[in-house]
Amino acid sequence: MIYLDNAATTFPKPDCVINAVTDFMRSSGGNPGRGGHTLSRQSSDKIFECREELSALIGADSPQQIIFTKNATEAINLAIKGCVKKGDEIIISSMEHNSVLRSSIDIEKEGVTVKIARADADGYLNEESVLPLITERTRLLCVIHASNVVGTVNPIEKIFAAARSRGVLTLLDAAQTAGILDVNCSYADMIAFAGHKGLYGPFGTGALYIRNGVSLDTLIEGGTGSLSESALMPDLLPDRFEAGTLNACGIAGLCEGIKFIKAEGVMEKERQLTEFMIEQLSAIKGARLMGKPGVGVCGLLLKGHDCVDIASRLDSEYSIAVRAGLHCSPMAHRTLGTISKGLLRLSAGFFNTKDDITSAAAAIEKLLS
Ligand code: ALA
Repeated sequence: MIYLDNAATTFPKPDCVINAVTDFMRSSGGNPGRGGHTLSRQSSDKIFECREELSALIGADSPQQIIFTKNATEAINLAIKGCVKKGDEIIISSMEHNSVLRSSIDIEKEGVTVKIARADADGYLNEESVLPLITERTRLLCVIHASNVVGTVNPIEKIFAAARSRGVLTLLDAAQTAGILDVNCSYADMIAFAGHKGLYGPFGTGALYIRNGVSLDTLIEGGTGSLSESALMPDLLPDRFEAGTLNACGIAGLCEGIKFIKAEGVMEKERQLTEFMIEQLSAIKGARLMGKPGVGVCGLLLKGHDCVDIASRLDSEYSIAVRAGLHCSPMAHRTLGTISKGLLRLSAGFFNTKDDITSAAAAIEKLLS
């Protein structure tokens, strides 16, 4: 099997991640923060270690600013629904995933206005598309760091600096970039992470970074193991946003995934694979490489073929795994002009080789010929 669907989830996971999950379930599986006994403390320590790893990766002031969630979607919902109130406006880019689009549209019923900043035909968002939309009612700007459809990377530092200077909160969707590009909290007020993609953690792990001083309403309420006498959620982070028992075994794996990307030079290898993919895929006859990939996510527009059919034949005839269609991002496909046909997406990860990419390019060309 040649796996080229790493934008959906990285596969395989490193052995250190798999071992951390099984070791945790075998030997440290107490409920974190819910008891004074050794197993509970070990569990809490492991979760704190993971918070430290992630906060160090993005240069956060303190591990408490990292809130664990079940995925990037939950982190995005918490950030958007937690900060926007009736009468506010929110700006999102036209390349956003349904995690941002649907959670934003959902709060329109609360009297919030959603404005869309249009990216260009490569999926690139310019400051000039965003700034004219800002008014005194604009509360939040949310932008995807790199497109999950075509890998175009947005000039986040510039756009967010301009928005923040006008008093607008900024939310970065780093689902496709954390672990692959430098993601740094110096330029965003909030950052949403998927644990199971470029951070090489297990499914069911994600996080939201919240800058000190940003105040959010809770998305869910419940037990935190702290200030239990109160009927209200505690104010302290991370407890305020982590009601209920955490996915401790997943977080134990995520902790090792983050250490793995730091130790193994993952970012450099992914950069080299991205360059190679662009070269190989743009040479396929009968296909057009869309966007301007800055991460290893490449979307091919196929001439005269159904991309879902080609993806299915790549799987059944060549054992090559890719994702075709709309990638849960219809607004991005409208921006790219590919909503009616969709794209064939190939996405590389640390465990791919250049041979994988050459083989996939040859198989696609054969199927199209
Ligand atoms: N958002 C993920 C993707 O683009 C699942 O495939």
